Amino acid sequence: MSAQTLLEVDGLSKRFGGVAAVSGATFSVDTGTITGLIGPNGSGKTTVFNLITGYLKADAGTVRFEGERVRRANPRRLYRRGLSRTFQQARVFPEMTLVENLVVAVAVPVWALGRRGISRADAARAEELLDRFGLGSHAHRKAGELSFGQRKLLEFATVLLGRPRLVLLDEPASGVNPLMIEQMERHIRDVHAEGVTFLVVEHDMNLVMRLCDPIVVLDHGAKIAEGHPADVRADPAVLDAYLGD
Ligand SMILES: Nc1ncnc2c1ncn2[C@@H]1O[C@H](COP(=O)(O)OP(=O)(O)O)[C@@H](O)[C@H]1O
Ligand SMILES: [Mg+2]
Repeated sequence: MSAQTLLEVDGLSKRFGGVAAVSGATFSVDTGTITGLIGPNGSGKTTVFNLITGYLKADAGTVRFEGERVRRANPRRLYRRGLSRTFQQARVFPEMTLVENLVVAVAVPVWALGRRGISRADAARAEELLDRFGLGSHAHRKAGELSFGQRKLLEFATVLLGRPRLVLLDEPASGVNPLMIEQMERHIRDVHAEGVTFLVVEHDMNLVMRLCDPIVVLDHGAKIAEGHPADVRADPAVLDAYLGD
């Protein structure tokens, strides 16, 4: 492991019945990168995210974050340690306002919110983040009223509230209109410029190729290539994976 390795995934494996969703995936994410994780549909990308962040228990393999083994991974604990993620289908609380959505991310357990209410400092930071993501004028509306793309922005804002060092984004551009994709890209770049490292799963190859370096390619749950965008794009194994079987 080099000094700048932030996340290290080694031999990660997970089966669902007869399906080997992830088979010995090994890769790392260096501090300061926007690393891409790509692969055909069903190649195990989301499962890798679920294993890293503790939503699933691995059958084999290890995950290290900042050099420390993540054992019995617990999403809440990882969030506090500085690792957070978004979901392919943005997860927001539709009946809560945008501000409440942000604040529950740090107010654990959720019932404490009702008892204590929202502190002025939390609300101020939540509103500042919403402004930044162009959602300020909706701050006190219910999240259920937002468009799909706006929900993705809200979810991204929410993970930033915990001041993470590593953010895992699962398909930030999917189902989002082109204008919103541009916004999403700008936000990722801005947050990255402030020192946050990213691991991004994304279907939009143009976006991946201009945003990510390096890129790790999965096929059938195993890494088949990694490197700079131009090299990965020219790799015959990658072309085969996307075109073949
Ligand atoms: N909870 C689950 N139960 C059963 N099979 C699953 C589950 N999650 C994923 N799979 C299967 O594992 C494989 C990898 O899925 P996934 O990680 O979602 O791929 P990707 O995100 O790359 O599209 C697929 O064959 C998928 O059907
Ligand atoms: Mg997926």
